[in-house]
Amino acid sequence: MSFNGLDNEIARLILLQRIELASPFISKIRKFFGRYLFTNFFTKFFLSKNEINLKYYELMGTEYKSLKRFINFEDKKLLSIGSGMAGLELIIDSLHKNNQFSIIEKNYVSKKVKYGWDDKNLEGYNNLNILREFLKRNQTNAHFRIYDFDKDDLPDYNFDIVLSLYSLDYHYDFNVYKEYLKKISSDQTQIVFDTVRPDYFNNIFDEVKIITTIEKKIHSSKRIICRGFIK
Ligand SMILES: C[S@@+](CC[C@H](N)C(=O)[O-])C[C@H]1O[C@@H](n2cnc3c(N)ncnc32)[C@H](O)[C@@H]1O
Repeated sequence: MSFNGLDNEIARLILLQRIELASPFISKIRKFFGRYLFTNFFTKFFLSKNEINLKYYELMGTEYKSLKRFINFEDKKLLSIGSGMAGLELIIDSLHKNNQFSIIEKNYVSKKVKYGWDDKNLEGYNNLNILREFLKRNQTNAHFRIYDFDKDDLPDYNFDIVLSLYSLDYHYDFNVYKEYLKKISSDQTQIVFDTVRPDYFNNIFDEVKIITTIEKKIHSSKRIICRGFIK
């Protein structure tokens, strides 16, 4: 299985968002030529869109299966912070009815994607027109709204689920969104994100559940589901 209409531009963005999808050849190129040339040149010309499509679909399916053990995705208002190309959201959309999706993302690709902790939260790896087009080609049940983090007024109602895989508190500080999340969540809202400091959140939320440990050479992290801001 794979996504519809995944062209070279979309494959490039997906690769920048999920570098683990790089083939051994592409990984070697990145190591050898450095991140600037990799981001601005090689990812534009040396990708196999079909291979990335298959691998991305499979990876997003695995993410979905791991989350659905803890989250009921039927009939929900979902907010995605840093959805990337929204493969996970599209899979949820295809399998569940009556959902509403809102996505907050950045509308530019940094010259040098570093994947580190970005103190100022300046790194972005998306293009909202391309994302909009990809959603149109693949959405089945729900309507998707897209918000540009830097320009738009963000949605201002309660969500049931907030998803932020490898974005919030993984690449930039949770505090960028803390006050906003307080405003748009209830005690029942499940907020999912990846972090290297899960204990920090015991002083912020009533409930913090670790659902996965991701072991990487440098940046091991936990995926957590949090609920209820401590008052
Ligand atoms: C590593 S990618 C992960 C994408 C996707 N969640 C996934 O799992 O494939 C991180 C994403 O966060 C986005 N991002 C960075 N800062 C953001 C912010 N302040 N608000 C929303 N998205 C942001 C980037 O543009 C990028 O698409």
